[in-house]
Amino acid sequence: MNNLIKVITKDGSISFRSEKFNENFHNIGGAYYETKSKFINPSRLKRFQNKSINVLDICFGIGYNSALLFQNLIIGLSSLNWYGLEIDKRPLNYALTDKRFSKLWNPKVIEILNSLNLKGSYKNHNFDCELIIGDARKEILNLPKEVDFDLIFLDGFSPQKCPEIWSYEFLSQLKNKIKYEGCFITYTSSAAVRKSLQNLGFNLFNIKPTLSKKNRWSNGTLATFDNRQNNPYITQLSEMEIEHLNTKASIPYRDPTGEMLSKEILEIRKKEQQFSNLLDTNSWRKKWEMA
Ligand SMILES: C[S@@+](CC[C@H](N)C(=O)[O-])C[C@H]1O[C@@H](n2cnc3c(N)ncnc32)[C@H](O)[C@@H]1O
Repeated sequence: MNNLIKVITKDGSISFRSEKFNENFHNIGGAYYETKSKFINPSRLKRFQNKSINVLDICFGIGYNSALLFQNLIIGLSSLNWYGLEIDKRPLNYALTDKRFSKLWNPKVIEILNSLNLKGSYKNHNFDCELIIGDARKEILNLPKEVDFDLIFLDGFSPQKCPEIWSYEFLSQLKNKIKYEGCFITYTSSAAVRKSLQNLGFNLFNIKPTLSKKNRWSNGTLATFDNRQNNPYITQLSEMEIEHLNTKASIPYRDPTGEMLSKEILEIRKKEQQFSNLLDTNSWRKKWEMA
């Protein structure tokens, strides 16, 4: 079964549930809200006003992250070189037929999304955009070598559902495509993903949570080589988060061939966790009263 089921999230914006991955595209609290708080605010797009910016959006899906990015960059008169990677054409195609989605965006953004949907590309005097359909693990190798990115968004299904795009090997491809001062942004605070990024030399920051629900300690991760961050949406990792990186949960997802099935990746990691001497993740949870 590979259906996409429409979901109306609490801020009124639409999303989908993937039957294949058995997971929603967005938090039920709000697709638009999630994009704004987890990807666009921490990107601090105002610094690119009247400047050029290179962006890579991995797991483009319906396109919320990039639509809101486009909307902000149009206002800021920025010049954009953009690539999107996505395995499934349907989410954007379906969303564009829904008024609740299209009314969120100004006509220029709709023009870009329509063009990406129909032709896979869009070009005008200051925007150059290409949406590449295929497995991000393969397609990332086909991006032009000379382009390095100011921003990389990774918005895949959760690591336990779609480990192939969170593997150490895939993340190491991103290391080669990001500028020194560039920011890698994701909603996940998974210890395995964070530890992989740290081992690749990135500095890690926590994206500040915006909801005050119990146990909502993070809105995700911002990783960068440049430690001089002046960003009100992020904080240094807390003691609790640093300890998380020393638990069994920090064992990376491994996909050395770039072709492994998610089931295989999960099995190998599970075995590695069984034989590991690292702190048990449940003990860490108990210590921080998350059990
Ligand atoms: C959580 S959803 C994306 C949310 C998205 N940013 C949005 O605004 O809808 C995850 C997306 O990852 C895509 N995906 C899953 N595996 C992929 C892969 N190997 N390569 C590229 N995209 C993939 C799915 O088709 C889905 O659209």
